[in-house]
Amino acid sequence: MNYIGSKYSILSYIDEVIEDFVPQKKDMTFCDIFAGTGVVSKYFKEKGYNIITNDIQYFSYVLLKGLIENSDELKFERLYKKKIDPFIYLNGLNGKKGFIYKNYSPKGTYKKKFKRQYFTDDNARKIDAIRMKIEKWKKKKLINENEYFYLLSCLIEASDKVANTASVYEAFLKDIKKSAYKPIELKPLDLIFKNKKYTIYNEDSKSLIKKIKGDILYLDPPYNTRKYDTNYHILETIALYDNPKIKGLAGTRDEDCKKSNYCLKNKAKAEFEDLIKNAKFKYILLSYNDEGIININDIENIMKKYGKYKRYEKKHKRFKSDNNRTYKKDYTIEYIHCLEKTNI
Ligand SMILES: C[S@@+](CC[C@H](N)C(=O)[O-])C[C@H]1O[C@@H](n2cnc3c(N)ncnc32)[C@H](O)[C@@H]1O
Repeated sequence: MNYIGSKYSILSYIDEVIEDFVPQKKDMTFCDIFAGTGVVSKYFKEKGYNIITNDIQYFSYVLLKGLIENSDELKFERLYKKKIDPFIYLNGLNGKKGFIYKNYSPKGTYKKKFKRQYFTDDNARKIDAIRMKIEKWKKKKLINENEYFYLLSCLIEASDKVANTASVYEAFLKDIKKSAYKPIELKPLDLIFKNKKYTIYNEDSKSLIKKIKGDILYLDPPYNTRKYDTNYHILETIALYDNPKIKGLAGTRDEDCKKSNYCLKNKAKAEFEDLIKNAKFKYILLSYNDEGIININDIENIMKKYGKYKRYEKKHKRFKSDNNRTYKKDYTIEYIHCLEKTNI
């Protein structure tokens, strides 16, 4: 998934920093408290860490439950007993006119005040049909919780691939792009099989930090005013499937509970200090670039209050989520601020 602030392309850099900054020992716990797509959690799961992972968005939680928590082969025994292969069955379903079709497809919205084309009519109907079937299987106990979250993860990934956007959902494209015309196809996503402890949360970092402890805390909060709840609102609705009240041309969810203080200029710094203060982790790493809301000197001064500080930096190609934005340079400097906390 092409996610704002994804660390997919700098995973090995994060790894190098950890190798350099953190004395390695056996059975360490790595916490990814702003996990987004979960690529960082996945990388460190593969490396054999115990993982605590979290995000305030529910669709991200679904991905984390599906791809990080699942660490054994999924057998779908109850479905196979009925001679149902989940992927063949779901991909073969006829479409249904549900919430996604009625609110985010051209035919579904043509009589409405706001006409939207986030998905083709066929793909929107198919997303609805698949989402409803997964829920029904769960209700009828034909799939267990692990299988449920895994199938939902596959649906989120598949829906994102056929979305008619410039990768974020704050707007749809005027013309249907080539990839959006392709029929949606649910594909099994790769799982990593390891025998460690995986704990998944869907909470605000501010409250969660008081309940958890471990060795390495990796922080990758939003660094600018672009909000994740509005940029990924349709994935959130596919995950929750809760018939939300929506508003405006983009059809965003009409709710405030997932607004992040890290996106607010007057709140980000205090929010960050609170997190550092309450963290019960010896090693804390913050990914933040040179265009972030919190000033680099403020980050350093806050971290220094709590222990030994070191900073690493690397040039990083810019994330281009939409074509209308113009930027002064096509790279950013990606800092990793590190703290060895003395009083935990
Ligand atoms: C920069 S992105 C993380 C990207 C992630 N590392 C990746 O590679 O996919 C920041 C994430 O923080 C989440 N977030 C924002 N505020 C939060 C909060 N207060 N508590 C927990 N998660 C939050 C957002 O939903 C978003 O997924």
